[in-house]
Amino acid sequence: MTLDEFKRACEQLAADGPALIAAVGDLVAWGELRNSLVGRTGGRLTDIMSALGSLPKEDRRAAGQLANATKVAIEELLETRRAELAGAAKTVAIGDPSMPARQNWRGSVHPVSLVIDEISEIFRELGFSIALGPEAETEWYNFLSLNFPADHPAMELHDTLYLEGGGLLRTHTSPVQIRTLQKYPPPIRILAPGNVYRRDFFDATHSPMFAQIEGLAVDEGISFADLKATLTHFARRFYGASRRTRFRPSFFPFTEPSAEMDVEVDLGDGRGVRWIEIMGCGLVHPAALENAGVDSEKFTGWAFGMGPGRIAQSRYGIPDCRVLFDSDVRFLEQFAR
Ligand code: DAH
Repeated sequence: MTLDEFKRACEQLAADGPALIAAVGDLVAWGELRNSLVGRTGGRLTDIMSALGSLPKEDRRAAGQLANATKVAIEELLETRRAELAGAAKTVAIGDPSMPARQNWRGSVHPVSLVIDEISEIFRELGFSIALGPEAETEWYNFLSLNFPADHPAMELHDTLYLEGGGLLRTHTSPVQIRTLQKYPPPIRILAPGNVYRRDFFDATHSPMFAQIEGLAVDEGISFADLKATLTHFARRFYGASRRTRFRPSFFPFTEPSAEMDVEVDLGDGRGVRWIEIMGCGLVHPAALENAGVDSEKFTGWAFGMGPGRIAQSRYGIPDCRVLFDSDVRFLEQFAR
């Protein structure tokens, strides 16, 4: 090979290279092209280099420099193209980066759980601890121990969900009062959140399953003043000091005297501000204390049962309780913290 021939081979490669490199469309084709241009075996540049030795000695230095410059130029072009192709491959994998980001739904605490947590916290500060009881109960714990007479209408088939074998789904959290007193003698202060079941229709104000929070304080010398002061304190903490609340006389078999607590709210249902009942309460009936093995001559107590669903409705202005059971994230999203 003469120096001229060697030069022409280098120039030809330098001329062909850019178009060939620009034409490869993916990394596999790029790899093949690189081998054919600068690959150790059979690459065009390698073939040119191996001809160096056949050149006259005095030409080898210039020829070597030319071959090297060609190699550097080709390798630079190859590297630039490789980076382009790799970038394009990544772009395809992640989709169109100019599209707006997809909102990711992180989940949030359900408004009823928010209310349960908040109420638990207020009562925790007052020295109440959490107690739990079973949702499948016996007639004795759910009704009879709580001083319901054996023919009380709440025990009717159309009010209560009975289980095979004589059990039932608890209709309220009050049986936790008896179960807890049997295990832990007074003085005692507990809060018992949990689900309860009734044979009810599913409409704007009823659902066959809902949450309740039971409260119970038993000690020596407890009076209705303790009940009223504590529950008023709770309402002030929960709704704010300016919110109006009231107690109305009521009846429950397991309390005497009994009351209901109302709070003034606008549920956002178009009916404006009105009184909504948020809980039943009263002094624990001596018969209930005795049924739990507590000496009712020595100890007295007060108790309440509230519906956190009702309370969530009153807090957030939710007119229909059915949305509390809805999985529509547009409803739940509003409570994301
Ligand atoms: N258990 C009652 C109900 O479900 C609510 C209730 C009323 C609970 C008065 C109490 C109470 O502890 O003292 O309707």
